[in-house]
Amino acid sequence: MRKLIAGNWKMSCYGGEAIELTEQINAGLEANPDLGLDAELLICPPYLYTGIVQSVLGPVSDVLVGAQDCALSENGAHTGDISASMLVDAGCEMVILGHSERRQNHEESDDLIAEKAERAFEAGLKVILCVGESAAERDAGNAEEIVGAQIDNANFEGADANKVVIAYEPVWAIGTGKTASVDDVESMHGFIRGKLQEKLAYGSDIRILYGGSVKPDNAKALLSVPNVDGALIGGASLNAESFLAIAQAGIDAAEQMAAE
Ligand code: PGA
Repeated sequence: MRKLIAGNWKMSCYGGEAIELTEQINAGLEANPDLGLDAELLICPPYLYTGIVQSVLGPVSDVLVGAQDCALSENGAHTGDISASMLVDAGCEMVILGHSERRQNHEESDDLIAEKAERAFEAGLKVILCVGESAAERDAGNAEEIVGAQIDNANFEGADANKVVIAYEPVWAIGTGKTASVDDVESMHGFIRGKLQEKLAYGSDIRILYGGSVKPDNAKALLSVPNVDGALIGGASLNAESFLAIAQAGIDAAEQMAAE
């Protein structure tokens, strides 16, 4: 399975920077075309810039474009919202749902995220569902319980292994420079895999990404862990060289695992 290397640009770039970053990704892929073939690359710019990024990537790019959220409702009288079907219309293929910054800053509950997933699947978007525990929850020994509940409350109706991706992002590792240890990642990803297999016939085939301070220097170790099928990258995805270095680390890790 190709690793999915996903960049979450959050609200961290203006249009000019988005153009420059995309041009640098294009240049990196032109210099090393295998990168875009041997890994699946996705970038999720702010809504406003998804179209600009699409046009800079060009019509035949290997890089997919996604969004960081979508509305709870279908099209209509919802001032300020962007619907899942609008994202599809704008050329997006995936949407990140349930990121911890949305759970925290916008009080998004599992139920609300499940409803958004329904809209996304109906519109034909693939969903990256983020799950993860806070530091206090981990310290209290409740990490699996929290992540397990987030998966139990998730909406898989209308999904299949190709339409849904889980991203395990321990909240305390996001943007902090702290990553979960390889042992903790292995144990949590194994737990998530077990849960998915229990719930879904295609549970063995769903990709599970790790996210939280993934950088070029820790990417190979994290992406070599069993059941780590890619990475969701914030900070390091704002630099084309780092983003593509992580993609290369994913390819190297996959090759090494296949050879073992
Ligand atoms: P980070 O963010 O790589 O900056 O820790 C990850 C994420 O929030 O998806």
